[in-house]
Amino acid sequence: MQQNPLDYFTEMARKYGDVSGMRIGNFRSFFINHPDLIEAVLVNHARKYHKGRILQANKYLFGEGLLTSEGDFWLRQRRLSQPAFHRTRISAYAATMAEYTEQMVATWRNSEVRDIHEEMMQLALRIVGKTLFDADVTKDAKEVGETLDLLLDIAANFGRTVLVPLWVPTPRNIRAKLGVRRLEKVIYRIIANRRACGGNSGDLLSLLLQAQDDDGSHMSDRQLRDETITLFLAGHETTANTLSWTWWLLAQNPAVEKKFHEELDGVLGGSVPTLEDLPKLTYLNHLLTESLRLYPTAWGMARLAVEEHEIAGYPVHVGNGVAFAQWVIHRDARWFDAPLEFRPERWETGLAKQLPRFAYFPFGGGPRRCIGNTFALMEASVVLATIGQKFRFALVPGHRVTPLASITLRPKNGILVTLETRG
Ligand code: HEM
Repeated sequence: MQQNPLDYFTEMARKYGDVSGMRIGNFRSFFINHPDLIEAVLVNHARKYHKGRILQANKYLFGEGLLTSEGDFWLRQRRLSQPAFHRTRISAYAATMAEYTEQMVATWRNSEVRDIHEEMMQLALRIVGKTLFDADVTKDAKEVGETLDLLLDIAANFGRTVLVPLWVPTPRNIRAKLGVRRLEKVIYRIIANRRACGGNSGDLLSLLLQAQDDDGSHMSDRQLRDETITLFLAGHETTANTLSWTWWLLAQNPAVEKKFHEELDGVLGGSVPTLEDLPKLTYLNHLLTESLRLYPTAWGMARLAVEEHEIAGYPVHVGNGVAFAQWVIHRDARWFDAPLEFRPERWETGLAKQLPRFAYFPFGGGPRRCIGNTFALMEASVVLATIGQKFRFALVPGHRVTPLASITLRPKNGILVTLETRG
């Protein structure tokens, strides 16, 4: 499981069907593989579960941010943050997304070899920094990016039998602490700058700074730090991975790439994509949907039972885990024809409406569904449309791209491509 969780869970489902059990030390966990069972856990009985052990073990990093907090505290933070992610608010970000993408593309040259994953990571980080915190993290992008990478690596201790407490000075823990400190320096600087100028930039940070408890108190720097780190982490690597996998899939599927280019040329005719253009880019939309099916950046999820429950006749006791994997369900022939084929066309005839609700759930579901869903899809569309008009990518022969199932699904060793200007 630790070496290759993707194959491990695929095999579990193939061998044992929709419900199976595993035991790690004295920790018992179920692996479920049917959309209705997942819906029961995420929606109908959501109150009986908290986030899984891995997220909880990483609270030193995420603190009590949206991803990891629970109960009333989480609900309050979610209500405070929700307006910042509303479609109307997010609309204003499309221009920034296009502008930053154009700036990146302006530094590219024909025939150059680049790691497209690295490029997408830096771009997504700059976009999150600017749109959510009105901070230009260009100067810090490399350092913040590397630190986030390191922390995510450390965080992904999937399958470890023993989670060593942070105060034990293991090499891993020392690296984790140093990483968090480096990141905090940047975050606290952004917060201090904003407090000093007292401005309202209409971004998430302004909203969180202004938010008041019933007793009139404001969020502490620590609370702001937790939410900010969470959004940096949840909002940058996920979208960057999705973009990287999409470019990789396009580079291997010339017929799909051709249709993608034809649509861009027809709808945009060389201009920068605006928010109004996005609904017209229907093929791009299906392309993204399909990319998130085959390479879901949130490839698996887990919960911990805090109340007794029953799944398909099996008792789930308090303290038991429940896990499920988008990677497995999205590739299940019960829901998708030729499931391993990359076919954006499959979404053209209303498949999304015919599927059981949790046969396709790249953004999770229920009360804890992704708050950045609209943001991510808008960003991915704008970036794909802006770059796709100007460049295509040829994979560098001999460079093997393999998915690494860390907390997110990312390309191990990046994706080396040769840049080719279009037309
Ligand atoms: C393709 C991109 C993305 C994917 C596939 C994705 C996927 C997910 C999934 C599956 C969850 C649920 C986790 C769980 O229930 O255990 C989640 C939660 C979350 N996501 Fe995303 N995400 C993406 C982009 C973003 C972006 C851009 C942001 C912010 C700017 C974001 C912020 C969050 C937050 C804060 C949560 C926790 C929500 C809560 O529990 O209230 N995500 N995401």
